[in-house]
Amino acid sequence: MAEPSDNFLMIIYNVLCLIVEVFYTIGKFWFLVFESYYKTFTTEERSVKGDIVLVTGAGHGIGRQIAVQYSELGATVVCWDINEQLNLDTVKLIKSKGKKAYGFTVDVTNREKVLEAGNKVLKDVGDVTILVNNAGIMPQHELLKHTENEIRTIFEVNVFAHFWMFEAFLPKMIANNKGHIVALSSMAGILGLRNLVPYCGSKFAVRGIQEALSEELRTSSKGESQIKFTTIYPYMVDTGLCKSMKIRFEKLMPAVEPESAAASIISAQRKGIEELSIPRHLIHLNRVFRVFPNKAGKVMADFLEAYVPSDK
Ligand SMILES: NC(=O)c1ccc[n+]([C@@H]2O[C@H](COP(=O)([O-])OP(=O)(O)OC[C@H]3O[C@@H](n4cnc5c(N)ncnc54)[C@H](O)[C@@H]3O)[C@@H](O)[C@H]2O)c1
Repeated sequence: MAEPSDNFLMIIYNVLCLIVEVFYTIGKFWFLVFESYYKTFTTEERSVKGDIVLVTGAGHGIGRQIAVQYSELGATVVCWDINEQLNLDTVKLIKSKGKKAYGFTVDVTNREKVLEAGNKVLKDVGDVTILVNNAGIMPQHELLKHTENEIRTIFEVNVFAHFWMFEAFLPKMIANNKGHIVALSSMAGILGLRNLVPYCGSKFAVRGIQEALSEELRTSSKGESQIKFTTIYPYMVDTGLCKSMKIRFEKLMPAVEPESAAASIISAQRKGIEELSIPRHLIHLNRVFRVFPNKAGKVMADFLEAYVPSDK
């Protein structure tokens, strides 16, 4: 039987261990805070030469520009889009500059087709090292004016497709312990906005999926994961996706050109930045305002008169 003095020593030992662990955790926390800020300004963009980049929704807008710009940086680009002609145009554009691109007509909501095309990419092109889940749709009207089909399709394209893409390409990334998953969320994935209820829901979901998957891999028993994640929150990019957007000081917050949005997204991926809003300051502003009660934050929103009008 243990002596009372042994029990006492054991308690002291456990308390000391806990104190050391608490100090270690606090120290590590602050070290990583400063390291992250330091790296934001000093990290260089890593080369993507030799990478295989797959972009969904590569036929138009931001996706097309992402595909073109990655190819210019020396990556092999795999373009997926539901629209065969637009996708072909992107592939032709890339090839006309002497760069490498492959085109696949795929509806990313169709799990079977995604897995089929995914196998073909792995066999004919190679292991995808950078996956850009970009395809998205955005109907904009009051919640009760959305049809059932519209709501389902928003979630099929903007959310479920990400799972089918993971199913197709994540196992190889895990086996190689190498890869980067980029996802297009939206500022509508950070703020709830009128006329965009299902869209906001879908883009909030993208944010959660990216964060949860990243956490799952980080804490997996297979050792330190080298698979990286970058989630993008654009405000307004001039692609035609958003029919119109109202804001009081339009000249201060003009829509960004897709070329410029794509350049920021690629730069964030190459630097390993986990979250980026376009423009960059919006995500930080949101963090500041979220500290205050919701009602106070709404005063700012009312002052800016920012909203997406209904298209009906
Ligand atoms: N444009 C903006 O202002 C803005 C703002 C915030 C977030 N985003 C997000 O950025 C992403 C790209 O937006 P964009 O403005 O370039 O859009 P876009 O409409 O210009 O291009 C989207 C592309 O996705 C393709 N696509 C649609 N459904 C598909 C499907 N089922 N399977 C395969 N391809 C499909 C389309 O054919 C099109 O080529 C979207 O996820 C969007 O939600 C855009």
